[in-house]
Amino acid sequence: MKHRSVIITGAASGFGEGLARGFAAQGASVLCADMNGRGADEVARSIGGLYGTPAVGIATDVTDESSVETMVARAVDAYGSLDVMISCAGVLMAGGVEDFNKKDFDFVTSVNYTGFFLCAKYAARAMKRQRASGRKELYDIIQINSKSGLSGSKANFAYSGGKFGGIGLVQSFALELAEYGIKVNAICPGNLLDGPLWSDPEKGLFRQYMDAGKVKGARTVDDIRRYYESLVPLGRGCRIEDVVLAAIYLVEQEYETGQALPVTGGQIMLR
Ligand SMILES: NC(=O)c1ccc[n+]([C@@H]2O[C@H](COP(=O)([O-])OP(=O)(O)OC[C@H]3O[C@@H](n4cnc5c(N)ncnc54)[C@H](O)[C@@H]3O)[C@@H](O)[C@H]2O)c1
Repeated sequence: MKHRSVIITGAASGFGEGLARGFAAQGASVLCADMNGRGADEVARSIGGLYGTPAVGIATDVTDESSVETMVARAVDAYGSLDVMISCAGVLMAGGVEDFNKKDFDFVTSVNYTGFFLCAKYAARAMKRQRASGRKELYDIIQINSKSGLSGSKANFAYSGGKFGGIGLVQSFALELAEYGIKVNAICPGNLLDGPLWSDPEKGLFRQYMDAGKVKGARTVDDIRRYYESLVPLGRGCRIEDVVLAAIYLVEQEYETGQALPVTGGQIMLR
């Protein structure tokens, strides 16, 4: 991973922060991008120089095309190239189909689906330029998708639908970009039960799923957690390091593109 330049969106928190730390530890130069610019800067500052490689933070809104274009240009300016784009920024709003409003649907879709398209668009442009200048190494575009991109999610359709769509984008981009040495793959993690998306006491999924009555008979958020753990053959939630290892594998291997790699403790098994 030495001398490889990596953008990670959603790098201020959760999987994105873990990926930024994990890739820096492997010797990559990292651009930490997040709507939370201060959080992205803090992560970059805390890893910059730690492993003898630079890290830079940038405020980026992945739903805004010019913001994404600026993010990619910043990585190329800072590091001379863009080798790996990891699209990790994501949001989730749970709710049943009858009461969900279009504004919320559009918001979830714009971050999780359109945001990935924009990141892939500007990454592909930069990578193709590098290829045209004679560089021969392979490049990677990786979407942090979800097991909800492989299997429907009750009362969570806006998220699940956008993630399913993300797999369609991954396969289509992979077909289009293979001839330029650009691999495009998705990672489909299971539930990060210890992260803020699940555990935030006010907005976390345990709370949202309690309010939406998604788990029959659950009376506390702990009931919901136990229910989700019981669904995993390996008996625990997904961890950040599981996803970091999967991402490093996807970059290092040279013979997979257009794949959706489940990292779910056996909860999802491909057919
Ligand atoms: N947490 C889980 O259980 C889980 C499971 C499977 C997949 N995922 C996926 O992993 C990814 C990261 O999730 P997480 O759990 O680490 O969430 P998180 O909330 O901890 O981190 C998401 C980050 O994305 C940023 N973000 C949100 N909207 C943005 C935008 N428009 N532009 C730029 N940045 C934006 C947030 O500021 C935040 O820092 C998401 O794509 C999510 O769908 C999460």
